[in-house]
Amino acid sequence: MRVLDAATADGYWMKDVKADFPDDTKFLGFDNALEGYPPLSTNPPLKIVQQSLVKDFPADWSIAFDFVHQRFVIPLFKAEEVPLVLSNLTGCVKPGGWIQLVEMDFQTPVSEPLESCKAV
Ligand SMILES: C[S@@+](CC[C@H](N)C(=O)[O-])C[C@H]1O[C@@H](n2cnc3c(N)ncnc32)[C@H](O)[C@@H]1O
Repeated sequence: MRVLDAATADGYWMKDVKADFPDDTKFLGFDNALEGYPPLSTNPPLKIVQQSLVKDFPADWSIAFDFVHQRFVIPLFKAEEVPLVLSNLTGCVKPGGWIQLVEMDFQTPVSEPLESCKAV
């Protein structure tokens, strides 16, 4: 299995979930600012490379990953850049694969009772 973590920073998510995937899973993370985030681990099966979400992706990433993950990233982009980000990411997913985008909900009030919180 191959897993891609977009805008991985120091690879925290990959390190966190590694044990939940089959032992032979290969993890590849990328970020456009690696110098700001010393990788937590670059030992196989975790690898981190430099790549921007709004630049052409390497050809060998095309329909190459079983699971593509991205967390806490979309608000960094202008609305007009988001379609390119999403199309780059979806282009990496194998047929039958999975893409998981995790973003904050800044709209839902958290001081309300849980039952009135739409996200719950
Ligand atoms: C809030 S951090 C999220 C880090 C990581 N996804 C996590 O959940 O731990 C946002 C990350 O997006 C990266 N980033 C910003 N613009 C990017 C771009 N154009 N291409 C790739 N990564 C980018 C930043 O360098 C930063 O590491």
